[in-house]
Amino acid sequence: MLNEAKLFVESMYKELDYDEQTILKRLNEIEQEILTMETYTHTQEELVYGAKMAWRNSNRCIGRFFWDSLTIKDARHIQTEHEFINTIENHIETATNNGKIKPYITIFSPHHPPQIYNNQLIRYAGYADKGDPAEKTITQLAEHLGWQGAHTDFDILPLIYKMSDGDLKYHNYNPEIIKEVPITHDRYPKLQQLGLKWYAVPIISNMDLKIGGITYPTAPFNGWYMVNEIAVRNFTDSYRYNLLESVAEAFEFDTLKNNSFNKDRALVELNDAVYHSFKNEGVSIVDHLTASKQFEMFEKNEYKNGREVTGKWSWLVPSLSPTLVSNYHHGYHNEIKDPNFHYKNTESTGCPFH
Ligand code: ARG
Repeated sequence: MLNEAKLFVESMYKELDYDEQTILKRLNEIEQEILTMETYTHTQEELVYGAKMAWRNSNRCIGRFFWDSLTIKDARHIQTEHEFINTIENHIETATNNGKIKPYITIFSPHHPPQIYNNQLIRYAGYADKGDPAEKTITQLAEHLGWQGAHTDFDILPLIYKMSDGDLKYHNYNPEIIKEVPITHDRYPKLQQLGLKWYAVPIISNMDLKIGGITYPTAPFNGWYMVNEIAVRNFTDSYRYNLLESVAEAFEFDTLKNNSFNKDRALVELNDAVYHSFKNEGVSIVDHLTASKQFEMFEKNEYKNGREVTGKWSWLVPSLSPTLVSNYHHGYHNEIKDPNFHYKNTESTGCPFH
């Protein structure tokens, strides 16, 4: 822990131009604390900058140009269930910001924090023949706890959580804080009849935040959507909403034969629909070409500051028209730097059924 703390404090404090003496003093303090307490406590500034660095080091994320604009809610003192739920609902409301989405992270205590079982704070339930197949397990867990959905394609799952000394429970959000966007296309009015919609803010809640040897197991965070995450993957993947045929029918494309190129055409128009539906509702979203340009600017900034950009190519290349953007055409070094976000080890924290 001391080693990891050292590496973190040295790189952070140097980036922020602190002098050697301040660094040594802080490292000394940390060493004493680890010797007596077997752990140490981040200062507010370390927590804030550490979370920003974790975003900057997220190899899968194309949105890292904005890493320094992350808002951090320090929730390390939160103890009661009531405060916990309030803090989560506050995150949703503040991050949604009436549509002008703020990148936001809420960080609970590293020691026995409330545990969240959802993959994202807001997500649609998945049933045998309805909803989001990616959420079937969580939906079963919610039902096991007594929750019942309306069995539409878009039932908002409840928050599933456990206080450190409590039972597994669920909480239905106040519906007023959940912003959703109905999907329409101005040149294909029939699309509206499919009744598609998506939620405004993707708030990842199944990753650990690690900073300088300290693991924060409950630290939900969000940015805003890149359009193809919804249109290409969530709506179109055959193992997700699998909507390509219904959408093409709504567009009145007469054939989906491979060599008609209508599958591709439908996919592009669906991206157009999702993007402009979000914009018309005043909800932040970015198209794949702009996001890639922003990533290029991030790369330039990083090199200017003497830092190597690590990345995972298969994630950084957008799922629509990949060759149109520069990152398709070169490789990335997929080294995992600290601070960072890590998928949970599902053996210890996965589905409580198993
Ligand atoms: N791909 C995930 C989804 O469709 C969201 C991942 C995070 N995305 C983001 N733009 N911050 O829900």
